[in-house]
Amino acid sequence: MRAAILGRHGEDLQGLQVAVLGVTPEVVGLAWPLASTIRAFDHSADMVRKVWRPHPTLASEVCLADWSGLPLASGSVDVFAGDNSLGALPTFVTCQNVLRELHRVLKRSGTLCLRCFIAPEVPESFASISEDVAHGRVLSFHALKWRLAMALCTGPDQNVVVHRIFQCFESVFPDRLALARMTGWSAEVINTIDVYRDSDTVYTFFTIASLRRLAMPWFSVQSIQYPDYELAARCPTVTLVPHASVAP
Ligand SMILES: C[S@@+](CC[C@H](N)C(=O)[O-])C[C@H]1O[C@@H](n2cnc3c(N)ncnc32)[C@H](O)[C@@H]1O
Repeated sequence: MRAAILGRHGEDLQGLQVAVLGVTPEVVGLAWPLASTIRAFDHSADMVRKVWRPHPTLASEVCLADWSGLPLASGSVDVFAGDNSLGALPTFVTCQNVLRELHRVLKRSGTLCLRCFIAPEVPESFASISEDVAHGRVLSFHALKWRLAMALCTGPDQNVVVHRIFQCFESVFPDRLALARMTGWSAEVINTIDVYRDSDTVYTFFTIASLRRLAMPWFSVQSIQYPDYELAARCPTVTLVPHASVAP
């Protein structure tokens, strides 16, 4: 993320105005350029209380706000950054409202840089996911969880209510002990799925095509960089740049 941003703004640039979408500590705490100011925005007081950590060396603050109505002047931010921020929005319309607002606040020379969880263009079947687990082709429980979640996003908004991920896991893998024996995953890790049991939160898993299409009125995709861990193809860092002007 840092490399993508500095690639656009220059290694030597100082004093960036950075806005973080959410309070992800790894994004807030990046080695941002000297004299940068970091403001994080999240609408959940609970998340702010539990997760927010100020930057260790730079000026930073957190603000309770919805990304579709930020308390920031137009054209005042150099960089928006976030970890799966758009994926935390429940519908395509919400996402469009947020992208419109980010475009208003971002300088025309600015950058929107997001790690995104991207679903395959053709959804996987639960049978093929289960077969991959049985053949040792799924290395971590979290990769399994995201694959099931993405396979559930077949509707027009490519979204899923989080408790459905729990229900799907329970129906595809009813025997947790057998799953633990087959994969070597600890019960402690597998049981993290229980957090999803009653959650009404909605996640959206865009495809690259749907993300480009939604962003198109305000942003172009400048680059897509892939990491080197499991499910790399589904966890790219996407760098978007704002259009100079937009249709009214
Ligand atoms: C940044 S996202 C993703 C965090 C984590 N890295 C992940 O991948 O699950 C999660 C955060 O977004 C916040 N959030 C979701 N929708 C929001 C919105 N419309 N405005 C402000 N914050 C929002 C949630 O409160 C939550 O703290």
